[in-house]
Amino acid sequence: MKQKIMSGMRPTGKLHLGHYLGVIDNWVRLQEEYDCYFSVADWHALTTKYDKTETLQQDILDVVMDWLACGVDPNKSTIYVQSLVPETAELHIYLSMITPQNWVERDPTLKDMAKILKSKEGMASQINYGLMGYPVLMTADILTFNADLVPVGIDQVAHVELSRDIVRRFNHIYNTDFFVEPQPKLNNCSLICGLDGNKMGKSFNNDIKISDSAEITAKKVMSAITDRSRMRKDDPGHPDECEVAFKYWKIFGNDTEIETISCECEKGLRGCADCKRQLGAKINERMDKIRERRRYYEEHPEEVKRIIEEGSLKAREEAKKVLDEVRKIIRMY
Ligand code: TRP
Ligand code: SF4
Repeated sequence: MKQKIMSGMRPTGKLHLGHYLGVIDNWVRLQEEYDCYFSVADWHALTTKYDKTETLQQDILDVVMDWLACGVDPNKSTIYVQSLVPETAELHIYLSMITPQNWVERDPTLKDMAKILKSKEGMASQINYGLMGYPVLMTADILTFNADLVPVGIDQVAHVELSRDIVRRFNHIYNTDFFVEPQPKLNNCSLICGLDGNKMGKSFNNDIKISDSAEITAKKVMSAITDRSRMRKDDPGHPDECEVAFKYWKIFGNDTEIETISCECEKGLRGCADCKRQLGAKINERMDKIRERRRYYEEHPEEVKRIIEEGSLKAREEAKKVLDEVRKIIRMY
C-alpha cells in the first residue's frame, strides 16, 4: 500500500512563486508516488481572520485554481476543503483533551504568530482560544488520514513535532498503536526571495503571483534588485552580489545560461536592464503553461467547485473510517 501524505495551506488568496517553487511543485512530484491529501485549511484561516470572511470563498477558489494550474491532479491527489470534513473537528476535540496546555504554549511557531498579531493590533488584542489550538487542529488534519508524511516548509516543522508528541500520548493513554507518528518532509529546493531581496510575501508587496500575466511578470522582474555597486552597464558586475536577479537566474536558468550570464556580467558585457528582460522572458517560459491552465479554470469555476466537492467527499470517506476507529478506541458511546 502507498504511504499517505497530508499537507495543507491556508486560503490566503492568490498564491505566489514562493508557494509554487517551495511547496506546490513538490506536491506535484509527490503525488506520483504517494496517496496525497491536500487541504485548504479554512478553519486555520479563521484562527486569525474570523472577522474578515468576506473574501474567504473566493480565496479558497483562488488557492485551488493555483494548485490545479501548477499541476496538482485531482485524479491522483485528493484536494479538499478542511471545513467540508467535519470529522477533523471531532478529532480535534478528542486531541484537545489529551494535549497538555503547556505543550501548545511552548510551540515556537505559535509564539511567533502571537507576537506578529500583537505588534499589528496593539497590546489590546487577545489571543483567542482557537489560535492556541492551531497546532492541535493541524494534528487533527494529519491524523484524519493517519498520514505518514507531512511535506511542509521549515516554519511548520515545530507543529509537526508537536503532532508526533500528541500521537505518542494518544497511543499511550489509550493503549493502542493505531496512529502512526507523522514525519515532516522538508522539500530540498531553495527558497525564492522577493523582488526586494526579503522573504517573498503577499503583504510585503514584493511577490510575483502565479496568476500574474506575462506582461506584469516581466514588469515586476524589471524591478528586481541587482548588484547595487554597479553604476553603468559596462562596469564589471558581481553576480554573487546581485541580490535578486542572479538568484532568480539560478532558479530558472539552465547551467549554460547561468555560466554565460555570470561570465558576461563579470566582464561588464551585460547590462542589468537587458539581463532582467531576458530573465523575465525565461520565467514566463516556465509559467506559460501554468497560466494557460489557470485561465482555463478561471473560465470554468463550476469545474473547480466540482473538484472541491468530490475531493471533500472522498476525504470524508477516509476520515469516517479513522473516526470510527478512534471512537472505539476511546470507548465513546
Ligand atoms: N499551518 C499550515 C501553514 O500555515 C497549513 C496547514 C494546515 C497544514 N493544516 C495542515 C500543513 C496540515 C500541513 C499539514 O502553512
Ligand atoms: Fe545581476 Fe544580470 Fe546585472 Fe549581472 S547583469 S548584476 S547578473 S542583473
